[in-house]
Amino acid sequence: MESTSENIRFAGRVIAQGGLVAFPTETVFGLGADALNEEAVRNVYKAKGRPSDNPMIVHVAEARQLQQLTDQDMTLLEPLAKAFWPGPLTIVVQKKILVPDVTTGGLGTVAVRNPDNDIARELIMAAGAPIAAPSANLSGRPSPTKTQHVIADLKEKIDVILQGEDCRVGIESTVLDMSEGHPVILRPGIITKEQLENVLLRPVEIDPALIHDPKDRGDFRPKAPGMKYKHYAPKADMVLFQGEDDAVIRQIHRVKEAEEAKGRKVGIIFFSEGEYAKAAHDWFAQLRSLDQDGVDVILAKALSQKDQVGFAVMNRMLKSAGYHVEKV
Ligand code: TXA
Ligand code: MG
Repeated sequence: MESTSENIRFAGRVIAQGGLVAFPTETVFGLGADALNEEAVRNVYKAKGRPSDNPMIVHVAEARQLQQLTDQDMTLLEPLAKAFWPGPLTIVVQKKILVPDVTTGGLGTVAVRNPDNDIARELIMAAGAPIAAPSANLSGRPSPTKTQHVIADLKEKIDVILQGEDCRVGIESTVLDMSEGHPVILRPGIITKEQLENVLLRPVEIDPALIHDPKDRGDFRPKAPGMKYKHYAPKADMVLFQGEDDAVIRQIHRVKEAEEAKGRKVGIIFFSEGEYAKAAHDWFAQLRSLDQDGVDVILAKALSQKDQVGFAVMNRMLKSAGYHVEKV
């Protein structure tokens, strides 16, 4: 439904009564439930078809609500919230017992985010409770960045879909673990390691599991449970081509012709080096659109992982392609 003030208040009541509401944020759409209501949170897992050991992000309307969810010392948390909230940063902290285990997938920590979207914040206020919300897609499908994507995945399964504009960022928030004293990025996003270090005035680690291909990762197991699942999978087979723009274009065209000669329908996703924010913004929408066109193969250009936003988008690209990369 349209996100009028009246409809947002209605949706807030639906959440307060244990229902499920999808809503826009600046990153991707979320599927929300009262974070403190176990039954409601269980229903989110059910609607998405999501494994229940995968914890949810708890969304708050204002930064100071963080203190309702954790007893952790605020010395480092306050500057983070001041610099990046509202915005696409999720902070993992030790949880208070009031946060149910189902919400955190049984972990002793809780992930908290203050989204930069008026509809989202009004909804949280109207619900009168923090809102647990994973991305509003069926588990394993690309994250939703347009209202239409949410309708396609969840229309029959949830109570309300609040409409919104296309998501400004397009990839999910940076997840930063602050629960153990030293900061660790568990999921890369548009807020980068450098930006975090500039505020925290100390080194920020990147979870080593994010840097390694799962096939040769060995003992590096991702600390964010959600990062271990096959994710963002289009229906088509997908290959990433790594190299200079020109060489990649030539190779993509060669492979395209060969695939088409076999009668396969080919889709291409190409972002020039440097277009990282655009790549983040468009990536999931392009995957969904190619799926809808019924392509059999997706050929895409890999991005440089030296750039931190490029690294964040590549994290999603690699998963979509099942780590299938060809150097050219
Ligand atoms: O941008 C976003 O973060 C979007 C919007 C809706 O806010 N939400 C989102 O949620 O991407 P979801 O559920 O799709 O991804 C949450 C990620 C998962 O990888 C999960 O494992 C991790 O955050 N996570 C949640 N709680 C955690 C915790 N306590 N410790 C470690 N990782 C956690
Ligand atoms: Mg997700």
